[in-house]
Formats: sequence, structure tokens, C-alpha cells
Amino acid sequence: MSTILPPSDVIWWKVPVDRSEGLWVGIALLWCLFMFAMMPIWHIYGNQNLSNEAYRTHPEVFQDKVNAMVDAHTVRKETQWNVPVVKPPVGSDVYMLGKKWQWYPALELKKGESYRLHLSSMDWQHGFSVQPININAQILPGYESVMTITPNQAGEFTIICNEYCGVGHHFMTSKIYVTE
Ligand code: CUA
Repeated sequence: MSTILPPSDVIWWKVPVDRSEGLWVGIALLWCLFMFAMMPIWHIYGNQNLSNEAYRTHPEVFQDKVNAMVDAHTVRKETQWNVPVVKPPVGSDVYMLGKKWQWYPALELKKGESYRLHLSSMDWQHGFSVQPININAQILPGYESVMTITPNQAGEFTIICNEYCGVGHHFMTSKIYVTE
């Protein structure tokens, strides 16, 4: 019962550790170490947390770069959400902007080609999650996260926001189309 009742007339750090208390502290410590080790292991083997660089930016500066890419390389409109679909040149810098409540614009990329994908937010924290392959990144205003990506399968990928960001969170989607 020594683990349930508070010590009354004793100095707690002089009481010997109960066997069950020691066991649970040990289990918790092992679990912490396991989760700590999983961070780099999952980065390398999980293929879901990509290596990225991050730079300081301002929402307006980033938005200008997004708009320049949209103006130059839009190929069609995504009819479902009235969002431009941008087909940027192979190897170029590609931008996607998170804002409440939309990922903007949609992208069309070529399989097997590399792009520099820049992500930032206009307002507050959003999640950039590529489904169904479950790549994830946290996106913050004021920071430009850059990942070098090479799509290795053709198809239609849905971008969803996976950080709760307000009443329109569940509408915050976009698309990446990968063509052969
Ligand atoms: Cu943006 Cu949730």
C-alpha cells in the first residue's frame, strides 16, 4: 500500500522504492528511450518524414512566389474546388501554400523527376499530409520548409491538413497528380 498512501511522517526520498514503483518507472523509462530511438529510425526507414530544410520567410513574400508559379504554369482548373492545377517545369521550385482553409494550388508532377517543394503557411500552423502514402510535415507561418521530392508512383494523391486549425480544418485539402 506504500505506493498509494502519501507518506505522512517520513521524508519521502529516504523511503525505499517499492518494487512495483520501480518496475513502472523502469517501464516508462524504457518506453521513452524506445520512442526516442524511433524518431531517427522512422525518419530513415519509414519514408514518411522527409528530410527538409527550413528558411525564414514572410507570408506575403511566400504568397508572391506561389502566385508567380500559378500565373506562369497553370494548365487547368480543378473543377471540384475551383483551384488552379499547376504543372511546373521538371526540376523547378514548386510552391504550396497552407491557409485557412485550403492547400493552394494543386500540382501536376512527372513521375521519376525531382522538384524542390516549398511549403509555408499564411496564418497559423497547418499539417501537410500526403495520402494514401502518409507523408507528413508540420507547416508554420514565417518558415519556408523545403523538401527535394521525386515522385516514384503515378496517380492521384490527396493533400489533407492533419493539424487541427479551426472550423474549416476538414475542408483543407488539395491534390498532387503524378503523371507517367
Ligand atoms: Cu489546416 Cu487543419
